[in-house]
Amino acid sequence: MNATPEAPPYGRILRLEELLEAACVHEDDVERVLFLATHQCCEISFAVALRHLEDVRAALDAGDGFLAARRAAPLPHVFRTLVGQFDALATLTPAAFDVIRTALGEASGFQSAQFREIEYLCGLRDTRFLNTAGFSPTERQRLRARLEERSVQEAYHDYTAGGPDREAADAVRRTLLDFDEAMAMWRARHAVLAERFLGGSTGTAGSDGASYLWTAARRRVLPEVWAELA
Ligand code: HEM
Repeated sequence: MNATPEAPPYGRILRLEELLEAACVHEDDVERVLFLATHQCCEISFAVALRHLEDVRAALDAGDGFLAARRAAPLPHVFRTLVGQFDALATLTPAAFDVIRTALGEASGFQSAQFREIEYLCGLRDTRFLNTAGFSPTERQRLRARLEERSVQEAYHDYTAGGPDREAADAVRRTLLDFDEAMAMWRARHAVLAERFLGGSTGTAGSDGASYLWTAARRRVLPEVWAELA
């Protein structure tokens, strides 16, 4: 079927030419392609997660628990999909990983500003990460703005304090916990992957490598929602 003049075709809607031009899929080394393009896929998912979290916060502020739960519903699945991305990276040979690692210099996912934005937007606000080397001025500015914004956790607190419909409040809490649990599983899978490739060596950003990631795996982006279970 021909596309109508009003309806742009698939490739244009998705801006595939620009997207694939920017994607790291043109390198000679196919293992490096897998490594870099996987990081880009993760960054797109982080951007999607941020949009959803902003909508979760808005729905909570509007007192609509069912809508907040619906906006949060894809998030656990998004992060579980990212766990699968680590499974694909685990197929790299140690030799291929070493070549990639050497070329990375000090670059690391540790410099993912969007990942810190997710933490800050949710409510896990460790301001030391503002000083991470490698953030651009724009990224640093975005992070500072996140710290001034209301967190999802604050919105959730005020929503529950307002005596909401029980069923709606249960749905929100369950979905937020599912999301944070999926993030914890992502962090743990990441730590195992780092252990596989780095053993006890330091990471490219200079951390303790897998050991740092195991400590990070204990972080929860919505600690107050978990605390309610105590
Ligand atoms: C073979 C694959 C990977 C290895 C060996 C690895 C290793 C590491 C290590 C050792 C760190 C700690 C910081 C450092 O010293 O560098 C780190 C941090 C990080 N990496 Fe990865 N990583 C891999 C893949 C990925 C992918 C695909 C993503 C997706 C964007 C990612 C995102 C992150 C993030 C967000 C952090 C900061 C975590 C935190 O501080 O809680 N990593 N990674």
